[in-house]
Amino acid sequence: MRVGTVREIKNHEYRVGLTPESACELVAHGHEVWVETGAGLGIGASDRDYEAQGATIKADAATIFDSCEMVVKVKEPQPAERARLREGQVLYTYLHLAPDPEQTADLVKSGVTAIAYETVTGPGGALPLLKPMSQVAGRMSIQAGATALEKAHGGRGVLLGGVPGVMPGKVVVIGGGVVGFNAAQMAVGLGADVTILDRSPDALERLGIHFESRAKTRFSSKANLADSVADADLVIGAVLIPGAAAPKLVSRPMLSTMKPGAVLVDVAIDQGGCFETSHATTHDNPTFVVDGIVHYCVANMPGAVARTSTYALNNVTLPHALAIADKGWQQALRDDPHLAEGLNVHAGKVTYEAVAADLGYDYVPVGQVLG
Ligand SMILES: NC(=O)c1ccc[n+]([C@@H]2O[C@H](COP(=O)([O-])OP(=O)(O)OC[C@H]3O[C@@H](n4cnc5c(N)ncnc54)[C@H](O)[C@@H]3O)[C@@H](O)[C@H]2O)c1
Repeated sequence: MRVGTVREIKNHEYRVGLTPESACELVAHGHEVWVETGAGLGIGASDRDYEAQGATIKADAATIFDSCEMVVKVKEPQPAERARLREGQVLYTYLHLAPDPEQTADLVKSGVTAIAYETVTGPGGALPLLKPMSQVAGRMSIQAGATALEKAHGGRGVLLGGVPGVMPGKVVVIGGGVVGFNAAQMAVGLGADVTILDRSPDALERLGIHFESRAKTRFSSKANLADSVADADLVIGAVLIPGAAAPKLVSRPMLSTMKPGAVLVDVAIDQGGCFETSHATTHDNPTFVVDGIVHYCVANMPGAVARTSTYALNNVTLPHALAIADKGWQQALRDDPHLAEGLNVHAGKVTYEAVAADLGYDYVPVGQVLG
């Protein structure tokens, strides 16, 4: 199969669909890999790096969209890219169609076979192609919070690890899932005083067994949350209620109970945020202050560490890309029901139930498409 990847054109997107190492694996499986010139520059991979792995560099994205049987990307296709998609072609990328009627209409019109990273499942209902970005965001939340705690950034001037003879900073992580676990790991590693709140007994037990005495766990009741937040130097918002907007767990009046210059990092901002006073920010201007409390609310945190994020993403997307290229998409989806969950649009039909329901399309089950 001829597989292509292009330079991402969404604002401030530096990741790339295929690393040179992923290109190497596809080539080793007998496939042709076409890469738009400069596609890897955002992660420090030059055209030569791709060529060294057997890929062919092409001068523009149009050539790749027009000639490749599968295009592997990171972000949803932008309007100029969507105009080039066609029937018989596979698009494999993050799509997030439910809140995006324009993109969905364009994909339906194009006839493309669109497989969305975010709906590919794993055992136990996990979303393995989303997980690495939560790992990245969780780990980043502590370094973002630590920076914001510095005086020059508006914070209260606390070093999370303390020094001998001075108490460490207090980190409170609300939500002990993938983001929260990774945040807690980083905070513990820095020597901070860490408390993780969750409402799930299973999550609390898992965290307790993992961290033992290195982090405290606490049930996320209203009273416990208020008490923990009031005492914190840094609060990480990492809750998720699948399919729903994030609950507003820290209200504006609660800010007045906090220490001036304390920091809130709202990782859940992509689901609306779990602090009442949050609004989405960008890497250009990541923080703002409300009632003396510094807020960091960047909606695409992994974009700042494009290289790490790209490699983490490729680790989980490549096996499916290889299966699709080796077997053709129909057989790959027949052989792997988790990958089949990723099919969102095919030949003008919406094949993902939630997208069809939200946007008013007829739903065609994947099984019907695969015959
Ligand atoms: N800003 C970014 O760049 C970025 C990047 C990746 C993920 N995210 C977001 O981070 C959030 C967390 O993602 P995740 O992968 O860790 O989800 P997850 O499902 O792994 O974990 C969420 C946790 O929140 C807990 N929770 C639910 N309600 C709670 C409450 N009231 N109090 C305390 N805990 C509660 C759940 O029990 C669960 O353990 C999501 O909104 C996700 O979209 C943001």
